[in-house]
Amino acid sequence: MKAKLSLSKDKIVSKIDDRLYGSFIEHLGRAVYGGIYEPGHETADDMGFRGDVMEVIKEMKVPLVRYPGGNFVSGYRWEDGTGDRAKRPRRLELAWGTIETNEIGIDEFQEWAKRAGSEIMMAVNLGTRGAEEAGNLVEYCNAVTDTYYADMRRKNGFDEPFGIRTWCLGNEMDGPWQICHLEAKEYARKACEAAKIMKWTDPSIELVACGSSSSGMPTFGEWEETVLRECYEHIDYISLHSYYGNRENNTEEYLGSSLDMDHFIETVAAICDKVKAEKKSEKDIHLSFDEWNVWFHSNEADKQIPRWSIAPPQLEDIYNMEDALVVGSLVNSLINHSDRVKIGCLAQLVNVIAPVMTVTGGKMWLQTIFYPYMYACRYGRGTALKATCECEKYAAGKWDAIPYVDCSAVYNEEAGEVTVFVVNRNLKESVTLDLGLEGFTVESVLEHKIVNHDDMKATNSVDNQEEVIARDGNAKADSVELEPHSYNMIRLKVK
Ligand code: AHR
Repeated sequence: MKAKLSLSKDKIVSKIDDRLYGSFIEHLGRAVYGGIYEPGHETADDMGFRGDVMEVIKEMKVPLVRYPGGNFVSGYRWEDGTGDRAKRPRRLELAWGTIETNEIGIDEFQEWAKRAGSEIMMAVNLGTRGAEEAGNLVEYCNAVTDTYYADMRRKNGFDEPFGIRTWCLGNEMDGPWQICHLEAKEYARKACEAAKIMKWTDPSIELVACGSSSSGMPTFGEWEETVLRECYEHIDYISLHSYYGNRENNTEEYLGSSLDMDHFIETVAAICDKVKAEKKSEKDIHLSFDEWNVWFHSNEADKQIPRWSIAPPQLEDIYNMEDALVVGSLVNSLINHSDRVKIGCLAQLVNVIAPVMTVTGGKMWLQTIFYPYMYACRYGRGTALKATCECEKYAAGKWDAIPYVDCSAVYNEEAGEVTVFVVNRNLKESVTLDLGLEGFTVESVLEHKIVNHDDMKATNSVDNQEEVIARDGNAKADSVELEPHSYNMIRLKVK
């Protein structure tokens, strides 16, 4: 099969906000305890952070980490995670039915993030709590004034503010499962008042209001309109969340998941623009896709986990080859919509629906989805180019026309590189993809990496860490042979 990718230096989508390649650490399962933090582990640093996990996250160059939830945040008292660790309360954690020891809180996490080279995207509790506590947390983290919460931070040993610039106004408040779930109008009012207090406390911060928990929610659309109408001038972004899974075991259909993401993004962007027009506003609201991933493998196992354990192995999806292809094409969707999507968070980062896994007391290992995410993090910085791909399409399940070849392309002017991310969804045939780069002279192929396996259900594990990994390919400057069902990352040196 043949296909053609056309790019032009003049045809751009947008300058990419680095935060597009963010991730997420929730106080859930073994993400924090046993994931990023394990005092006593042979690689642990002076604060008990796992050195092996820290190293890989630094190498990936994860720009942003959302924290501390997720559903967890809607019952969280942020003060529990500050100050003298011996005095911190153990609490019933109602979102996930566990016990939270509060050994780690914002005091420690901001240090972890600093060491990992990531910025924090902080979520405030708009479930059991409200505007006042949200404002207090902004003061604790960011204020330089001689006032109660800034002084509390200093007493806890932090003279310098944490300088957190991106904040979520709660989490999935449209979902009936959420602790203190709200109706759209109720959330909109609460978020609006919290936003005012938070921005009065620190006018430099950016705020993300909750959109729908998925495009399948019965209130999807109406929720966004209500929230935007109420909060428009007080917020900067609205959130989108989406998880995919091959529940019907229909791989061809599953590989089209990014079409759903495309549609979701375009619909929410249209709602933002409709409200902008209604309000005759000058301001654009951008999108924060702050939870996206594949999540379904662990659903049954999670039902067996007893309540009130500490850091049990929840949401530990083991990802296979086809999941890596889906994650590769979801990343492409984010890049191709980077004019509207400014923030993205792969949910999550360690152990919980994650690219990076650990054995408590043992080794770290990497899942199949690690590769497409890591390559985007590392080489997806710069300007997204309009990637026009002429290729055949196929029908599968609910989709009439899934392109066999899915692409995105990023121009990094500083490095003089164009990186092309390509998924070949054709399960049987290889594709010869012509690379047409207008306005660039391609000097050489710096790197071509392929992730592929004969078995679409192949996984990695702690004992078999190299079953699905990236290997070198032999792309040419003007064409690349895409193996059937493969993920490809091609870096071209350009002038
Ligand atoms: O990422 C796992 C969970 O998925 C988050 O806690 C919640 O926001 C979403 O439903």
